[in-house]
Amino acid sequence: MRDAAPTTIYLKDYKPFGFEVTSVALTFDLHPNATRVKSRIAFAPKPDAGGKIFLHGENLTLVSARIDGEPVQPEITTEGLTCPVPDAPFVWEAEVEIDPANNTALEGLYMSNGMYCTQCEAEGFRKITYYPDRPDVMSVFTVTINGPHPVLLSNGNPVDASDGHAEWHDPWPKPAYLFALVAGDLVAHSDRFTTRSGRAVDLNLYVRPGDEGKCAFGMQALKDSMRWDEDVYGREYDLDVFNIVAVDDFNMGAMENKGLNIFNSSAVLASPETATDNNFERIEAIIAHEYFHNWTGNRITCRDWFQLCLKEGLTVFRDSQFTSDMRSAPVKRISDVIDLRARQFPEDQGPLAHPVRPESFQEINNFYTATVYEKGAEVIGMLRRLVGAQGYDKALSLYFDRHDGQACTIEDWLKVFEDATGRDLAQFKRWYSQAGTPTVTVRDAWYSGTYILTFTQDLKPSATTPDPQPQVIPIVTGLLSRSGEELVPSQVLELTETSQSFTFEGLPERPIPSVLRGFSAPVVLHREMPEEHQAFLLAHDTDPFNRWEAGRELARASLLAMIRDGAKPDQRYLDGMHAVMAEDGLDPAYRALMLGLPAQSDLARTLHDMGEVPDPAAIWTASETLRDALAERLSDVLPGLHEAHQVREDYQPNAEQSGRRSLANATLSLLARLEGPARAQAQYDAADNMTQQLAALAVLLREKAGDNALHAFENQWSHDRLVMDKWFGLQVMQAAPDAVAATAQKLTEHADFNWKNPNRFRSVLGAMASHHAGFHHDSGAAYTLLADWLIKLDPVNPQTTARMCAVFQTWKRYDEGRQAMIAAELDRILALPELSRDTTEMLTRIRG
Ligand code: PHE
Ligand code: ZN
Repeated sequence: MRDAAPTTIYLKDYKPFGFEVTSVALTFDLHPNATRVKSRIAFAPKPDAGGKIFLHGENLTLVSARIDGEPVQPEITTEGLTCPVPDAPFVWEAEVEIDPANNTALEGLYMSNGMYCTQCEAEGFRKITYYPDRPDVMSVFTVTINGPHPVLLSNGNPVDASDGHAEWHDPWPKPAYLFALVAGDLVAHSDRFTTRSGRAVDLNLYVRPGDEGKCAFGMQALKDSMRWDEDVYGREYDLDVFNIVAVDDFNMGAMENKGLNIFNSSAVLASPETATDNNFERIEAIIAHEYFHNWTGNRITCRDWFQLCLKEGLTVFRDSQFTSDMRSAPVKRISDVIDLRARQFPEDQGPLAHPVRPESFQEINNFYTATVYEKGAEVIGMLRRLVGAQGYDKALSLYFDRHDGQACTIEDWLKVFEDATGRDLAQFKRWYSQAGTPTVTVRDAWYSGTYILTFTQDLKPSATTPDPQPQVIPIVTGLLSRSGEELVPSQVLELTETSQSFTFEGLPERPIPSVLRGFSAPVVLHREMPEEHQAFLLAHDTDPFNRWEAGRELARASLLAMIRDGAKPDQRYLDGMHAVMAEDGLDPAYRALMLGLPAQSDLARTLHDMGEVPDPAAIWTASETLRDALAERLSDVLPGLHEAHQVREDYQPNAEQSGRRSLANATLSLLARLEGPARAQAQYDAADNMTQQLAALAVLLREKAGDNALHAFENQWSHDRLVMDKWFGLQVMQAAPDAVAATAQKLTEHADFNWKNPNRFRSVLGAMASHHAGFHHDSGAAYTLLADWLIKLDPVNPQTTARMCAVFQTWKRYDEGRQAMIAAELDRILALPELSRDTTEMLTRIRG
């Protein structure tokens, strides 16, 4: 129910809990509608405990409560209970009843396809039993599960198991958000890993019967992650078992519960026939991410939820290092930057902007954001660049030594860097406290042998950062000669002032600068330089990121000129791409990335930054025109490229093969613009893996030749939820702008549109919102359809509803007509009397 006045929680109000929790014992008697949870918790009051205790608890029916064996009658509210307690250590015992089968919010203990599972981060444990549900309260848990299920799992090591009964003990103190329980009729794909100090670890991936064939890749990714964390960070696994469970109904990607990771099945299950190369790569990264949390998150956790980036930014940074090592580092870097611009920049530059470490929130679930995760990882990348790889390694060793077993803050994190490297990080800390994407402008000058680069930085004031101060911005820069030689190799220029110049003496000629190599800081860069530079860098830059970026910048400039002045596609861009495609030494995956255009939403952002009102239809048309022109310009090389990059060996989801497939599929898509759908139909008919099948289907749909394939696909895959998610999503993504809302609407009427499943909901409505020209079609039909569904989903699953609301965050960029339509939809939702706290907070912030 909506609070009359929603409460805001502030970082500055943090107070430690008044009690130590010395041990926790839980017993679950499972029942779909009436699960009983008995808790036995040993508390020790701290000196200022104050004679009573507050325990969180929501949607619980209290059956009994005792302190030291004596019944007590606590005072109960919707948020928890308060009870007088002794002034000395005591034992709290309670029994509560909960209703997992009716828990559609997927937080706490819930059911998915007949199996029990839990999700406790951030504040779900309070829906399981009364407890101080805050991350700075850490304790040792023992868990007993009774229920008629072949598999009964919890955290830690198994201590006892018999039919319908299991006991687990986790020796590592942990906060309640890392608690997990799973029970069901599951099958295990098992393996073994020996840590470098000789601990034998049983590895199990538990799935529903029928999914056994989709486990091998995830298991290999787990073993690779375990080895990598030993080799690169010196971190070993610390229990006798590591279990992963796949569940179909899950709000997020996956969860790092101690010793018992729970995964959205889309983030772990894969076979060549059902998963694409991109799916495989994502799965490998998510498995690594959750595994790496064992040290960065679990052994060292967060003091409070404002410190979320302490574990998330660091763990994303670590998983991107892992992917760079396993696959191609430049390709990973480019993909991460594409993702940052698509998801984090709009957040940082709109009404939802918040610092990497927020200072207030109403609902913490709304702060699992691209800013906390991805910008949080960028901030660590900058830190590493500033202190160097060795300084970083020293600081991380100190972090693990000093803080193992603790619940920490960003201050603790920065202090280990200061202590390990001697560097003052006071100014650097602004990356954690200031919201917004800095804009950096660079110009150059040349006076007889002296070359000067001048940078200025600018951060727009926002609600959370009204008075922005200059940040430390590491700008990796190299200088090239006119023949493409490196005159000055890459170095880190540290921009600390609002405006600052860097001088290079004794150069033989005026160089061409390559600035912000590797995207060394998460900023928007304006180059006040001739566009010829970008054409030169596209041909010659030795930094693979900036070479790609030069192509992007040329494409962006061309698209903007087409949109604003009706210009023709830029010949320099087209010629540059032709040259790149002819370079056979270049990684095919990298060349495939080169063929992409800036996202249409990113073009809208650029136009908005220039003080213009973006027209989604014009952006769409320009993008289509430029793609057609690219296909034309490349027409002599496309058939050869397509042919040369066919994979004829047995399918492997590795970087090498998937790179070839991505270039072959990118060329297939361009070729269809020239010659129609025949080649795509042939690929569809012959495909024996999902990467080929789906890429062909996408082209057929775009070419309006996909009806037969669409039916065939549905018949072939109707038994497979994850594949059907793709079937739903692709139809929306490939629809023409004026057909997007109608296509989505029709799919919501499909018998398999199980909207309570977050993956399925997102596959249609998330896809609709990600189609820039379709979502913002001037009929407003997509706005209305989305609002209708958000209204329907909110009472069932507030978390997924609230996350989806973010698609409206850019609404003030658009024209008055669109703004009025969106405002009306936002107000329609906000007017609901029982809107969830999650959705209320999101829409209030967006509405402004
Ligand atoms: N902590 C999880 C991760 O990033 C994400 C998550 C948050 C999952 C909240 C569920 C709920 O690995
Ligand atoms: Zn995480």
